[in-house]
Amino acid sequence: MMRIAVALLAVLAIGQAEARLSNAYWNTHGQGVVQNGTQSGKVATWLKGDTPLDVYIAEPANAKPIAAVVIFTDIYGFEFSNTRLWADRLAKKGGFLVVIPDFFRGDALTDATRNTSAVWRTRHPKDRVLKDFTAVLAELKKAYPSVKKIGQQGFCWGGGYSVWLSAAGAPKIAAAVGYHISAVTAADIDAITGPISLQQSDPALDNSVNETLYAYIEKTFKAKRAKGIPAYTTFYKGFPHGFSLRGNLSDPAYAKAASTAFYEGVKFLKARLLPPTDPISRVVALKNSLLKSAQSAVAQVVAAPKAAAPKAAAPKAEAAAPKAEAAAPKAEAAAPKAAAAAPKAEAAAPKAAAAEAEAAPATKP
Ligand SMILES: *[C@@H]1O[C@H](CO)[C@@H](O)[C@H](O)[C@H]1NC(C)=O
Ligand SMILES: *[C@@H]1O[C@H](CO)[C@@H](O)[C@H](O)[C@H]1NC(C)=O
Ligand SMILES: *[C@@H]1O[C@H](CO)[C@@H](O)[C@H](O)[C@H]1NC(C)=O
Ligand SMILES: *[C@@H]1O[C@H](CO)[C@@H](O)[C@H](O)[C@H]1NC(C)=O
Repeated sequence: MMRIAVALLAVLAIGQAEARLSNAYWNTHGQGVVQNGTQSGKVATWLKGDTPLDVYIAEPANAKPIAAVVIFTDIYGFEFSNTRLWADRLAKKGGFLVVIPDFFRGDALTDATRNTSAVWRTRHPKDRVLKDFTAVLAELKKAYPSVKKIGQQGFCWGGGYSVWLSAAGAPKIAAAVGYHISAVTAADIDAITGPISLQQSDPALDNSVNETLYAYIEKTFKAKRAKGIPAYTTFYKGFPHGFSLRGNLSDPAYAKAASTAFYEGVKFLKARLLPPTDPISRVVALKNSLLKSAQSAVAQVVAAPKAAAPKAAAPKAEAAAPKAEAAAPKAEAAAPKAAAAAPKAEAAAPKAAAAEAEAAPATKP
């Protein structure tokens, strides 16, 4: 009975996905529905030498961005218009500088060659990609010195890097968002120590992260959150691998799922790359920073006997401490007001997502 019910549910889920973009369609069109919007970014060569590496750069309105996001593409690579249009939108809606490195150096797959992906993967080994990424980070900081924090987004092939870059010992990023990730193991999931959000396809429809692995991720992330590591995962029922980037945006259901996944990514990265804008977080951040400066002033006083100018440090600390104390109640007082404002903001978010979905262009027959 139970088995029949499960089988029926699976059939229903697949039926739903087929109604949206048939599996037969995906089998022959791995790129899904190719978007033809106008790209607003630019291409530059960042790594010079024998093996130059190009990047696509989408700049936000702010001429001096303080945060950047590096996108790791799917197998369709750097020139795939859907990825570039996503980058443009991420720069616009998130306020990030967005960079897409051409890690494949022109060797992206196409629908005609994707059946060679196993061999292709060996041409783009993890150690080389991570070395390139480290060099890209250095170049990014040189080209945009205003950038303080750098996050990552990865799709499918690139989603594996969302996981690997969240482990200790990997090149440092502030946060990662993986969309329908691939090629990760349970051990990779175990190794995560940094902030990560996964926006997954329906595990029942995705061989890259099937139901077994998805259940493991869910369980492991819950344990990680209990230890203070912000690791989150969610999936979009009825939507197959690739839905966020390569789906049929003329189908309102696809447009809504893709838009939700997009804004979840924006929200997660904004919270970790940009200074808080909501009143509660600002008040908490202010209070913490004042307390921290008071604490460090006190620490200076404690350390003072050994210091060269002990007398100078002490009054400074004394002066800072009451200020911090005085600010704290103010912060507390502001909090309820902020709390009242928060639900309003939450309520506005899905509305914005819906508007975005509605704004998606309709396919011409
Ligand atoms: C984009 O252009 C291609 C080639 O002209 C076309 O097949 C495809 O349907 C277009 N995509 C959309 C979403 O209009
Ligand atoms: C991949 O498909 C093409 C035809 O589309 C075929 O010529 C080629 O032999 C296939 N390669 C592999 C490794 O299956
Ligand atoms: C699910 O994925 C895991 C890890 O990739 C794999 O070991 C396992 O065989 C898969 N299970 C099924 C039922 O396909
Ligand atoms: C995309 O969705 C539109 C609207 O539902 C539909 O007419 C069109 O056939 C779909 N395209 C594909 C490739 O499934």
